[in-house]
Amino acid sequence: MKFSSRLNWNLTPNPLTQLLDAKRAQGIPILDLTESNPTRCGFHYDDAAILSAISSSKSLTYDPSPRGLLKAREAITNYYLLKNKTVDPNSIFLTASTSEAYSFLFKLLGDAGDGILVPQPSYPLFEFLAGLESLRTIHYPLRYDSDPRGLGDLAGLWTINFEVLRESISERTKAIVIVNPNNPTGSYLKKDELAKLNELCHERKIALIVDEVFSDYANGEDANRIETVVSNDGALTFALSGLSKVVALPQMKLGWIQVSGETKAVEEAMSRLELIADTYLSVATPVQHATPKLLAMRESIQKEIRERVEMNGKVLEEQKLNVLKREGGWYAVIEIEQDDERLAYELLEGENVLAHPGYFYDFRGRDVMVVSLITKVDVFEEGIAKLTKNLQGL
Ligand SMILES: Cc1ncc(COP(=O)(O)O)c(C=O)c1O
Repeated sequence: MKFSSRLNWNLTPNPLTQLLDAKRAQGIPILDLTESNPTRCGFHYDDAAILSAISSSKSLTYDPSPRGLLKAREAITNYYLLKNKTVDPNSIFLTASTSEAYSFLFKLLGDAGDGILVPQPSYPLFEFLAGLESLRTIHYPLRYDSDPRGLGDLAGLWTINFEVLRESISERTKAIVIVNPNNPTGSYLKKDELAKLNELCHERKIALIVDEVFSDYANGEDANRIETVVSNDGALTFALSGLSKVVALPQMKLGWIQVSGETKAVEEAMSRLELIADTYLSVATPVQHATPKLLAMRESIQKEIRERVEMNGKVLEEQKLNVLKREGGWYAVIEIEQDDERLAYELLEGENVLAHPGYFYDFRGRDVMVVSLITKVDVFEEGIAKLTKNLQGL
């Protein structure tokens, strides 16, 4: 049988994953510093309220709509209204996840072989999301200035390398993806960067896809930061988010796309997106009815997550690890002098501690370890102490 060449990836697990599987099979307890599933991190969810929200009797009737139920989309417009952004509910499309939102947009924008620009370092799923739509990813670098004399005001900030980004655009480039804030660097898009992106996308007729799933988790204030691009009118823009991070309920499977830009382009994009969404109608009815109530729960769970992130951040400070500046999100990037792949393997092999090596996220030119700051604090403290001991060669 000959299967689609879209799936020609080498799917052999890497040595770290093989070692992890072997340890787990032997029942060895692992100090997992990469836990990013919030439902496994010991947070206090209001179980009764969540269960009541998804058990509305209205869910017994099937009344599908390609964009999703209006009352769910209106709840999302209220969420943006509190960020001082007025959004038309008709510009919102519900999806089963942010990942599905990407797949809809890649179908909308690209033909087989077309290119999507994605940040580097970033989230490792893009190769798969684009490849499954027969598109290519092209990486544009984000640069971090750790030398205060290097980029002046930009010291300790990740910025888009616009020179390389510009040179990477060809006739076949269909979109620029921005992760705001980025996973795992935690870096936010800045006002001047959005202005340059608008100009570039408008001039080269390409779309802007901005993944804002972590945008509610800022670390401190910065007036130059873009919290959300919803209602950005400088380019055809798709803002993505969802319940998986906003209310820490990834199992609910609800994401969304908000479309903005020049009226004609928005209308054309929305009529095509409607066809794509109508083909699948993939969002379950119970979660759509529950969305207003679930979104209303975000304050308490986000507060708890922020406190956890802060507590674990302090653990890193106490150990005097070289942590890159973190503007937001759930991850910390620790710069190391050793080879990251080797260190990750040795930590797991010798100490039963799991941390991700930077190469998983395509960090270039610096060795780093990536850890999740929503890990339970006792696990985090013990794992980080072992990591620190290992870094000091003790
Ligand atoms: C940047 C980013 N976008 C999207 C997702 C996936 O979100 P969803 O569960 O809505 O597919 C993740 C998951 O960790 C992520 O890190």
